[in-house]
Amino acid sequence: MLARELVFSAVVLGIQFLLCTAQCNNATTTLRDAADITQLASCKTFTGTIVVATDSAAVMDIPGLETVQGDFIAANNSLLTTLSSSTFSVITGTVLFQNLPFLTNLTLPNWISSGTLHFDTVPEPTVHDFQQNGQQVNNLIVRNTTFAFLAGLALQGAQMDTLKIVDNPFLQIINLQMGNISQSATIKGSSADLVVMLPNLTYAYELNISNGSQVVLPRLQAVNGGMSIGSIKSPNISAPALTFVGGDLNITDSGLSELNMNELVNVQGSMNLVENAQLADLSGLSSLSVVGGLNLVGPFSNTTLPSLRRVQGNAIIESTQALNCSDISSTLVQGSYVCHAAVSISANPSNAAVPPDHGLTGGAIGGIVVGIIAALALLAAGTMILYRRQRGGVQEPPQQQEQSKVFENPVHEVGTEQRRRDAAEKDGNAIFEMRDRWPDRGELPGSQARPNRVRPEKRYELS
Ligand SMILES: *[C@@H]1O[C@H](CO)[C@@H](O)[C@H](O)[C@H]1NC(C)=O
Ligand SMILES: *[C@@H]1O[C@H](CO)[C@@H](O)[C@H](O)[C@H]1NC(C)=O
Ligand SMILES: *[C@@H]1O[C@H](CO)[C@@H](O)[C@H](O)[C@H]1NC(C)=O
Ligand SMILES: *[C@@H]1O[C@H](CO)[C@@H](O)[C@H](O)[C@H]1NC(C)=O
Ligand SMILES: *[C@@H]1O[C@H](CO)[C@@H](O)[C@H](O)[C@H]1NC(C)=O
Ligand SMILES: *[C@@H]1O[C@H](CO)[C@@H](O)[C@H](O)[C@H]1NC(C)=O
Ligand SMILES: *[C@@H]1O[C@H](CO)[C@@H](O)[C@H](O)[C@H]1NC(C)=O
Ligand SMILES: *[C@@H]1O[C@H](CO)[C@@H](O)[C@H](O)[C@H]1NC(C)=O
Ligand SMILES: *[C@@H]1O[C@H](CO)[C@@H](O)[C@H](O)[C@H]1NC(C)=O
Ligand SMILES: *[C@@H]1O[C@H](CO)[C@@H](O)[C@H](O)[C@H]1NC(C)=O
Ligand SMILES: *[C@@H]1O[C@H](CO)[C@@H](O)[C@H](O)[C@H]1NC(C)=O
Ligand SMILES: *[C@@H]1O[C@H](CO)[C@@H](O)[C@H](O)[C@H]1NC(C)=O
Repeated sequence: MLARELVFSAVVLGIQFLLCTAQCNNATTTLRDAADITQLASCKTFTGTIVVATDSAAVMDIPGLETVQGDFIAANNSLLTTLSSSTFSVITGTVLFQNLPFLTNLTLPNWISSGTLHFDTVPEPTVHDFQQNGQQVNNLIVRNTTFAFLAGLALQGAQMDTLKIVDNPFLQIINLQMGNISQSATIKGSSADLVVMLPNLTYAYELNISNGSQVVLPRLQAVNGGMSIGSIKSPNISAPALTFVGGDLNITDSGLSELNMNELVNVQGSMNLVENAQLADLSGLSSLSVVGGLNLVGPFSNTTLPSLRRVQGNAIIESTQALNCSDISSTLVQGSYVCHAAVSISANPSNAAVPPDHGLTGGAIGGIVVGIIAALALLAAGTMILYRRQRGGVQEPPQQQEQSKVFENPVHEVGTEQRRRDAAEKDGNAIFEMRDRWPDRGELPGSQARPNRVRPEKRYELS
C-alpha cells in the first residue's frame, strides 16, 4: 500500500518535472494571457525566446521567472499597457520593446542585465521602475521614442559595445556612465536642447554625436576611429582629456566659439572644422602635433597651431575673415596647402598655394634630416621613448614631454575579452589590429606624401 503510494507520487513528481523541464526549455514561448504566465511561473530560468503575443492581455505581470537564457520580445501590440515582473533579473539575449503605443507602466525593479536593450517606437512609460543601480547592457538602442531622459537608466557597465540613440525628438538628457564603448556610439535626431553627458567614458571606437545643445566628455581619451560632432548649439564642446583620434575629427555646424581639446596630439584622419559660425581661432588645440589633413572653413582669424609638426595630407583653409596664411607653415604640409582668406595678411603670398612635393625650404629639409634620424631610431626599436627623443630633436617645448606620456595609456587593451579579439581578427577591422607603427611611415625618407585619407586604416599602437 505504502509502496504503491510512493510509486504513484514518484510518477506524479516525474511528470511534473518533465512538464516543468519542457516549459522551461521551449524554443519560443508566447505569452498571451494569465494561463501562459502561470505555466512559466514555475521556471526560475527559462531557456529560449519569450514573446508577448500581439493580442495579449493589457496587463502582463510575470512572476517567478528570474533568468531568461535568450530573448524577450514585446512588439507590435496595441493592447499592452503594463509589463511587469518583480523577479526578472537577467536576460542574456535581446530585450526588445517595439511599437507598443499604449505601454505606460514598465516595472522591472530587479532587472540587472541584458545583452541588448532595444526600445523602438515606444512612448515614455509614465511608470518605469528599473532605476536600480548596476544595470549592465552590452548594446543599448533607443529609436523613435518619446523618452525625455536617458538618465534613470543607470547603465553602469564598465564597457559597452554599441550605443545607438537616434530619432528621439523629445530627448533632453543623456547621462550614462559606461567607461568604454568598444564599437560605436551614435547619438542623433534628439531634441535641440539635448545635453549629452558621458562622464566616465574614456575610450570609444567610433563616436558620432549630432543635434543637441551640449556635449560633455570630461574623461574621453581616445577614439580609435572617427569622431564627429555636428549641430550642437553650445559654444563649449568639451573633451579636455582627448589625446588621440584614429579617424577624422569633424566638428560642423556648431555654436562652438572655443575648443577645449588641449590634450589632443594626434588626429590620424582629417580634421574638419567647418560651418562653425563662431569659431575664429584654434587656441584650444595647443598640443595638436600630427594630423592627417586639415579642412578649416569659417571665420578664422588665427589658425596658429603651436605644436603642429606635420599635416600628412592636404591643408585647406578658407576664412571669411582677415587671416595670416602663414599661421600654418606650408613646409609642414605634406600634401597641398590651399589658403583663401577674405583679407590675406600674409607677408608671403606664395604660401597661399604650395603644390605637394615642391619648393622645399631650408626648414623642410631640416625636418627631413630630423625625420631620417628619427626613422632610423624607430627602425631600431620603435618605442615611444624614441619617439620622445625625436621630438626633443626638433626642440619642442618641454611640456610636450608631458603630452607624450598620455600615449602610454594603452588604448589597445580595451576590451580584454577574447571573443572580441577573435571577432576582430576575423573581420580585419580591429581594435587590436595594428597594421602600422605610430609615428607612421609618412615620416620615413623617400616616402610619398600621403593623400588626404578619408578613412585611415591605421590604428593606434604603442609597441
Ligand atoms: C512551447 O510553447 C508553445 C506555446 O507557448 C506551446 O504550444 C508548446 O506546446 C510548447 N512546447 C513544449 C515542448 O512545451
Ligand atoms: C513589428 O512590426 C514591424 C512593422 O510591421 C516589423 O518590421 C517588425 O519586425 C515587427 N516586430 C517584430 C518583433 O515582429
Ligand atoms: C505598475 O505595475 C505594477 C506591477 O503590475 C503595479 O504594482 C503598479 O501599481 C502599477 N503602477 C501604476 C501607476 O499603474
Ligand atoms: C515613430 O513613432 C511614431 C509614434 O510615436 C509613429 O507614428 C511613427 O510611425 C514612427 N516612425 C518610424 C519611422 O518608425
Ligand atoms: C563614474 O565616475 C564617477 C566619478 O566621477 C564615479 O563616482 C562613478 O562611480 C563612476 N561610475 C562608474 C560606473 O564607474
Ligand atoms: C559616423 O559618421 C561617419 C560619417 O558620416 C560614418 O561613416 C560612420 O559610419 C558613422 N559611424 C557611426 C557609428 O554611426
Ligand atoms: C568627416 O567629414 C568628411 C567630409 O564631410 C566626411 O567625408 C567624413 O565621412 C566625416 N567623418 C566622420 C567620422 O564623420
Ligand atoms: C542634425 O545634425 C545633422 C548633422 O550635423 C544636420 O545635418 C541636421 O540638419 C540636424 N538636424 C536638425 C533638425 O537640426
Ligand atoms: C557650457 O556653456 C554653457 C553656457 O552656454 C554653460 O552653462 C556651461 O556651464 C558650460 N559647460 C562647460 C562644461 O563648460
Ligand atoms: C594666435 O594664437 C596663438 C596660439 O593660440 C597665440 O599665441 C597668438 O598670439 C595668436 N596670434 C594673434 C595675432 O592673435
Ligand atoms: C604672418 O605670420 C608669419 C609667421 O608667423 C609672420 O612671420 C609674419 O610676420 C605674419 N605677417 C603679418 C603681416 O602679420
Ligand atoms: C577602458 O579602457 C581603458 C583602456 O584599456 C582601460 O584602462 C579602462 O580601465 C577601461 N575602463 C573601464 C571603465 O572599463
